[in-house]
Parts: sequence; C-alpha cells; structure tokens
Amino acid sequence: MDNIIIAPSILSSDFSHLADEIKRLEDGNADWIHVDVMDGHFVPNLTIGAPVVKSLKKVSNIPLDVHLMISNPENYIKDFALAGSDIITFHFEAAKEKTEDIIKHIKSFNIKAGVSIKPKTKPDEIKPYINDIDLILIMTVEPGFGGQKFMSDCANKIIEIKSFAKKDLIIEVDGGINKETAKYCKELGANALVAGNYVFSYGDIKEAIKSLR
Ligand code: DX5
Ligand code: ZN
Repeated sequence: MDNIIIAPSILSSDFSHLADEIKRLEDGNADWIHVDVMDGHFVPNLTIGAPVVKSLKKVSNIPLDVHLMISNPENYIKDFALAGSDIITFHFEAAKEKTEDIIKHIKSFNIKAGVSIKPKTKPDEIKPYINDIDLILIMTVEPGFGGQKFMSDCANKIIEIKSFAKKDLIIEVDGGINKETAKYCKELGANALVAGNYVFSYGDIKEAIKSLR
C-alpha cells in the first residue's frame, strides 16, 4: 500500500539521548513518533508520563502518536493532550463503557482519537465506536514490552475491521513488526505500522524505515 505511516516506537531508543533519537528518526523519514506510556498496572511495566511528552514536543517536528497503556485513561487525557500529543490512543480494555466519553474528551482538544485492542479482544467489541475514532491500534503482542514475537492471528483482525470501518480509518499495527510482518500487515490492509526493536537494532534507521514501507 502507498502512503503507509511508519511510527517508530521510542521505547527501544536511548532514553539518555531522546532529542537525538527523535532527530535520527526524523532524518530517517519516520512519519510519526510512537510514544509508549505504561503505568505498571494495566501492563506490568512502567515507562514515561506527560512531562516527557511535553519535552518531546519541543524537539519533534512530526506528530507524536501517544499510546496509553494505562488504567483509568480518562484521568490523564487532559495532561497528555496539553503536553502536545497529536494522537492519543487508549485501550478499550481499560475503558469499556467509558469509551465513548473518552473519545469525545480526546477530540475536544482537536487531536486524533484512537482505540487499541489487546490480542484477546475481538473486533466486534469496538464496532459501536468505530465511526467515532480516527485510528484503531491492533496489538500483535501482549502490551508491555518491546521486542516480542508477532502474532499473526491478531493481525488477521484487520480483515474484519475493514468490513465495518469507514474508508479513512487509520488501521495501525503494533508489536513485533519487521520487514516480513510489515508486508503481511500491509497486505491485509494496515496503513500504519509501529516498530521499536526492529528500527533501533537495524543499524541504519533510514534503511530500516525504508524496508518497512
Ligand atoms: C508494546 C508497545 C509497542 C512496542 C513495539 O507494549 O506498545 O509499541 O514498543 O515494540 P516492538 O516493535 O519491539 O515489538
Ligand atoms: Zn505501542
């Protein structure tokens, strides 16, 4: 597919040189910067919060694609929006009946709203919200850690989602993306790909990103 969005995850970057890492990604033609926010509760790992997003915003010229892997996401939307997120994606499993309100809250900041689903969540669970969101983030690993193995069954959800989604929905896949799994997802109809470990361990960031397109 043309115009695939490549969103490298800074989870695999060198956190002691974040500004340099952002620059390397921009120079490597990344489309978005994927920012993995983990709370040690919704997922068994802790990463960063809104103050770091605010600092990243100062040095980034491309959109910040913020992936909230946190419980009670409704309590943090404002902080992440005001910090400069361009897209905020929260987990359906952490929101359930609050999903509609959280989507509205994100959109009130005039930014894109995304919903993510974990491997065991079925596409029809988010069907009621599909016309309200800009992006669906399909997890192809259990959220929490970079460098895990891609689960193709999860990527297959793209087919079902496409059957009921509007044409301009951004279908983003996250977890275990490399050259081969990227090809698989693109063939199914993904139009955005997150990649952490692959991009940062490849050696040449520009080549890594190019190989995913
Ligand atoms: C996993 C995160 C991913 C992760 C992707 O919980 O949401 O964004 O960093 O990393 P790789 O590409 O290494 O699987
Ligand atoms: Zn992510």
